[in-house]
Amino acid sequence: MTQTERVFADVAALARAAAEIVAETATRAVAARGRFMFVLAGGSTPRVLYELLAGEYADRVDWARTHIFFGDERCVDPDHKDSNYALANRTLLARVPLPPENVHRIESERGAALAAERYEDVLRRLFPGTPPAALFDLVLLGMGADGHTLSLFPGHDFDKDAGRWVIPATAPDAFAVKDRVTLTLDAVAGASRAMFLVAGADKGAALAAVRQARNDGGDGPPAARVKCRGEVLWLVDVGAAGKA
Ligand code: 6PG
Repeated sequence: MTQTERVFADVAALARAAAEIVAETATRAVAARGRFMFVLAGGSTPRVLYELLAGEYADRVDWARTHIFFGDERCVDPDHKDSNYALANRTLLARVPLPPENVHRIESERGAALAAERYEDVLRRLFPGTPPAALFDLVLLGMGADGHTLSLFPGHDFDKDAGRWVIPATAPDAFAVKDRVTLTLDAVAGASRAMFLVAGADKGAALAAVRQARNDGGDGPPAARVKCRGEVLWLVDVGAAGKA
């Protein structure tokens, strides 16, 4: 596994670079396996990327052969303002010719435990074998100011996740929606490529902690623990990189 960090002047430049990487990864995946298994990130940072993929880059991805997954979801209805699905649907999914059956939404409105079990079943059906020959082609990730990623927050007991790809989780009290469903690090570890999109000075301390862990081999915050089969790309803006 390799880790690469690139710093961009602003979110627009970061999103454009990310769109190129999505298009290139999609092309390679469809050529190699006839499908592109793409995990979307939650939060707000990916919005500009999703709009680019639905607009200028729409013809660079074979949507008919693309499957969409979610790295995590808040336990709210799919049309709720805090739903990761709602943002992705509004900015991307409803605007490109994806077969509806290829959008694998986390049904978090059913409650975290049941939704996690059902999503694990969906993934095990789509990625048979132990371990599966190949899992996701690309996992998009964000990082919170506390260094969380997906819905894996500081203090998470990662040992409890062994053998699971999807688990219920709880966000700290400071978060509006506490009940969550999230992929585990094991699910991401099977991916060919992971790509973080991190922007804003408020992420600076967390990114510094990730860099520290990368350099000294420590655990660091949850985002620092992400591994995958190929490369973990960090696309960050000057604000997060401390160069603003
Ligand atoms: C979530 C996310 C979470 C997010 C980070 C960054 O559901 O909240 O999956 O991991 O990616 O909190 O969020 P922003 O992009 O909004 O800063």
